[in-house]
Amino acid sequence: MSLKGKHIVLGITGSIAAYKSAILTRLLIKKGAEVQIVITAAGKEFITPVTLSALSGRPVINEFFATGDGTWHSHVDLGLWADIMLIAPATASTLGKMVSGIADNMLITTYLSMKAPVFVAPAMDLDMFKHVTTQRNIKQLQSDGVIIIDPGVGELASHLEGKGRMEEPENIVKILEAYFKAELELTNTEQDQTNTEWSQTVIEKGKTITEQYQNVSEKNLLKKKVLITAGPTYEKIDPVRFIGNYSSGKMGFAIAEECANRGAEVILVTGPTALNITHPNIKRIDVESANEMYSASISAFPQMDVAILSAAVADYRPTQQEDTKIKRNDNEDITIKLTPNPDIAAALGKIKKDNQIIVGFALETNDEENNAIKKIEKKNFNYIVLNSLNDAGAGFGLDTNKITIISNQGDKTTFSLKSKFEVAKDIINTTLFNKTVKTDINNPNKSG
Ligand code: CTP
Repeated sequence: MSLKGKHIVLGITGSIAAYKSAILTRLLIKKGAEVQIVITAAGKEFITPVTLSALSGRPVINEFFATGDGTWHSHVDLGLWADIMLIAPATASTLGKMVSGIADNMLITTYLSMKAPVFVAPAMDLDMFKHVTTQRNIKQLQSDGVIIIDPGVGELASHLEGKGRMEEPENIVKILEAYFKAELELTNTEQDQTNTEWSQTVIEKGKTITEQYQNVSEKNLLKKKVLITAGPTYEKIDPVRFIGNYSSGKMGFAIAEECANRGAEVILVTGPTALNITHPNIKRIDVESANEMYSASISAFPQMDVAILSAAVADYRPTQQEDTKIKRNDNEDITIKLTPNPDIAAALGKIKKDNQIIVGFALETNDEENNAIKKIEKKNFNYIVLNSLNDAGAGFGLDTNKITIISNQGDKTTFSLKSKFEVAKDIINTTLFNKTVKTDINNPNKSG
């Protein structure tokens, strides 16, 4: 009963795949969900409300007012009631109406009132799906925060073979189960977020999970081995105190997830962080100090194809670590002497072979590009990802980042402010696939 008590608004539109919605409803109910179906007039031509209400145990909504007694169906209440909205199947026409906000049926008004994440499973003929208009609408919906469950390839109602078949109900249910599981984990770790940040986090999670389950992200890192360092390091002063920094590990974790989604085998060496990550391709090694991170990284690196070093490693550690808690003495200042930590990046740079790639990070406050270029040379990086603390929305603890990537050949690419998941994609595309676009193609006006 992995969906126990979850409120799901299921939108059904006029596609032959609407027959699959009956199976979908049954599966959702079996998993414990409460399902409220909203169907369009065209949807009713393909499957009857009687079947659907019998399966869902609730009257099916298809009009603004119940024809019998004139009861008003409140799309606003549905928007508040839902834990998610799922539109399956979604026709090309519904996608277009969603993009433009053409609220001429109950399903679109419900979509426009929705407070919860919206999943959409398109279904249509292959040429309609390929059409520039449909593709543009899908892109727009994705950037509006809608999670698209990509259609599969196979025989279509037209008897043609191609992409356009609605994802199988069993897989849609798996995606939703994984989404709610991840949401629960996020609830435990990301409690401090504002409502807007929270919606962004759950939507990104939903997108990643959907891609993972559908294997739609390009598997272009299959058989590649990637080492990633992430998070801060803690350098012990005494048994209860340490020197650390504000790194949350979010950027490194997003990169690890994206590499794993693309088929890479990932070793994620992380300092202390509150983040969870569960992916069969990720081996997580938890460390605390720079010395521990150094040992784990140096022993893994010779077998790796790539190292992406996003950790905020402490440059120094207390020379002496006290065995017992340092006691307060009001009459004396105390001094903590510091010793330099090993430079993990420089050490890996020294043993790097020609077929290995190292991507380093630089967080700068002034003379950013020159400092970053110096680090490329000093640490033998192939690329450096530059964050400037002067950019609003970039830096420690945030869910967004704004980066510039500089190569050891002098190529420079500047990106606009994006979620760390999107930034992870940009880093991988630019550094591992040599895409040296000079400005961010998604947002040319904003990049410099
Ligand atoms: N790095 C590392 N080991 C360290 C310090 C840094 O692996 N002991 C890595 C970071 O993960 C990052 C890159 O080196 O990829 C740049 O880190 P940064 O702290 O900016 O560089 P530093 O060499 O410490 O230079 P500075 O503090 O003078 O800016």
